[in-house]
Amino acid sequence: MDIIKTGMNKCQIIFGDSREVLKNYISAADLIVTSPPYADARKKHYDSIAPTDFPDWLQTFHEPFWHCLKDDGSLVINIKDKIVDGVRHRYVWKAIEKLAENGWFCIEDYIWHKPNPMPGFWPTRLRDGWEYCFHLAKTKTPFINQQNVAVPVGDWVNKRLQKLGENDLARHNSVNESGFGRDISKWVGKETVLPSNVLSIPLVGKNKGHPAVFPVELPAFFIKLLSRENQLIIDPFAGSGSTGIAALLNNRNCLLIDNNMEYCHLAQERLHAEAGGLFTEVSVENYIPPIPKAV
Ligand SMILES: C[S@@+](CC[C@H](N)C(=O)[O-])C[C@H]1O[C@@H](n2cnc3c(N)ncnc32)[C@H](O)[C@@H]1O
Repeated sequence: MDIIKTGMNKCQIIFGDSREVLKNYISAADLIVTSPPYADARKKHYDSIAPTDFPDWLQTFHEPFWHCLKDDGSLVINIKDKIVDGVRHRYVWKAIEKLAENGWFCIEDYIWHKPNPMPGFWPTRLRDGWEYCFHLAKTKTPFINQQNVAVPVGDWVNKRLQKLGENDLARHNSVNESGFGRDISKWVGKETVLPSNVLSIPLVGKNKGHPAVFPVELPAFFIKLLSRENQLIIDPFAGSGSTGIAALLNNRNCLLIDNNMEYCHLAQERLHAEAGGLFTEVSVENYIPPIPKAV
């Protein structure tokens, strides 16, 4: 990943339940990028939620997320459903549907493709090589900067352009008459192209001290696409702090919240090791509930 040092950003780590902590951050976040605990799967490591209870559980974060996010901000949830009694449980779809019923617009479903999935054998399925990343927002037109994630156009376009024929110079119906026309000549002079909504990013090794670390490149993609420099990125299920590292490496401020003190300290260590020098301060703070107003 390119590291561009333009200034010093801030990163705060708070130990607490994000539903409570976020009450202190009304309309503060430009982007929430996160990966909630998987239902049941992490029993040994943190509170488990039964798959059937997951949609209602995630719903308890709806208001805190909605209120801490600015109106043109985005919420990106990385998640995967699990196998229950031999079949795929649909708790993830149900959870996202519930959020949509409460006003979130489902802007796009991204697929995180893992080119190096876990090896193994399962009688009725293959290796699991992808997870969802749901892009939700409070409006249908949240902030987006597609050029920030544009990729080099690649050799195939140059080769194709050398052979431009008459058919290529005007929008035309495709050969199979599907109705999807294209005008290849529009590619002339273009150096970059938008990537697709399938993100191919290898899994990280198991040595980060947390059972569910996602690669820094995953939040980094959405941070570049859906926020501006120096804005605030929040991860309310911060774990080992991958989102914070991605935010700092891309000149954004970050707020990381986890209800496990060990993980807060792990995040602090990782920030120093992987984004050291890119922030002015990083400390783990305990959540202090606001003093109730006198009636
Ligand atoms: C899937 S992990 C996130 C891993 C993270 N993406 C990383 O790369 O390390 C989910 C995290 O959410 C935390 N968590 C669960 N419930 C929480 C809550 N109510 N408030 C804050 N954190 C919570 C867990 O302790 C766990 O570390």
